[in-house]
Amino acid sequence: MVSVAVMGATGAVGREMLEILGERQFPLKHLRLLASERSAGSFLKAVGRTHQVELLTADSFKKIDVVLASAGGSISKQYVPAAVRSGAVVVDNTSAFRMDPNVPLVVPEVNPEAAEFHQGIISNPNCSTIQMVVALAPIHRAVGIRRIVVSTYQATSGAGTAAVREMENQTHALLNQKPCPNHVRFAHQIAFNALPHIDVFLDNGYTKEEMKMVNETHKIFQDNSIGITATAVRVPVYRGHSESINVETDSPLNPARARELLNQAPGIEVIDDPSVAAYPLAVDAAGRNATYIGRVRKDESRPNCLNLWCVSDNLRKGAALNAIQIAEMLLEKNWLKQKDSSG
Ligand code: A2P
Repeated sequence: MVSVAVMGATGAVGREMLEILGERQFPLKHLRLLASERSAGSFLKAVGRTHQVELLTADSFKKIDVVLASAGGSISKQYVPAAVRSGAVVVDNTSAFRMDPNVPLVVPEVNPEAAEFHQGIISNPNCSTIQMVVALAPIHRAVGIRRIVVSTYQATSGAGTAAVREMENQTHALLNQKPCPNHVRFAHQIAFNALPHIDVFLDNGYTKEEMKMVNETHKIFQDNSIGITATAVRVPVYRGHSESINVETDSPLNPARARELLNQAPGIEVIDDPSVAAYPLAVDAAGRNATYIGRVRKDESRPNCLNLWCVSDNLRKGAALNAIQIAEMLLEKNWLKQKDSSG
């Protein structure tokens, strides 16, 4: 039994964490909900009980074994070191420590072994990266991956609750022939639109979200030689990121064999029958745990290339579920305490 603190418990991902802790009957001794002064003192239902939300401070981690952090990168940078000093393991859902060479970046179905020698922090990859590496790991293991070209269609919940509200308010106004309310969370109107802009632009012309997919995939697969190029697009969807993935393999892999490999892999469900218009959809993936794959087909323009369509709930496998699976794995393998990797 372990004591868990959820940092950002009132947010889109935090609430999903509470839901999943209950669903999976996580062996909780004590649960602490942490947020800012905006919601400290309020009450939230979690694991069958009502809990009072507490103000996050550097003293919030006493007697806490596991911290699930999802209150934003700057908050993680500020408070995660204090949590580690007080003896907790932090599964951090933000980008704060992902590329730190001392911090494992883990997807349990893909690279569980990376978590063993953690030094108090384990990073949860970006939502778009998680579902892509779940989808590609079985292919990478079987035939090797040389290059990935990916375009995403990402739900607004990935940008937090205020972003979802912005989509709703704009949609409501426009459907009622009213002027579109100003955009705040997004760079442009999100209702009835598609924005090729997630996170900030970098000097190379890519967005940070796109480069997260490149750099995090290299780190998880431990192979910087894989060519990866990404375009990340925000679409007016509540939940569920969709990805069009083109993958070039080292040796040939036909679509039938690819479907077979994917079907056998943990965390994946293949939905692929064009004759009955069966393929993964964001609305079907919402609230569910798997990564769904369909439209598996040969890229006829190049040898050894496949196209596939991959959908997963960004708040679940893309965030809260992956973090809780990491915590479950630490418990199961007895990896909660830091180990000395030198011996
Ligand atoms: P709060 O409800 O107090 O604002 P989302 O990603 O949906 O926008 O949610 C962000 C989460 O991070 C919320 O739980 C929010 O709490 C929390 N958060 C934001 N800023 C802070 C802060 N300075 N200290 C603690 N929690 C914070």
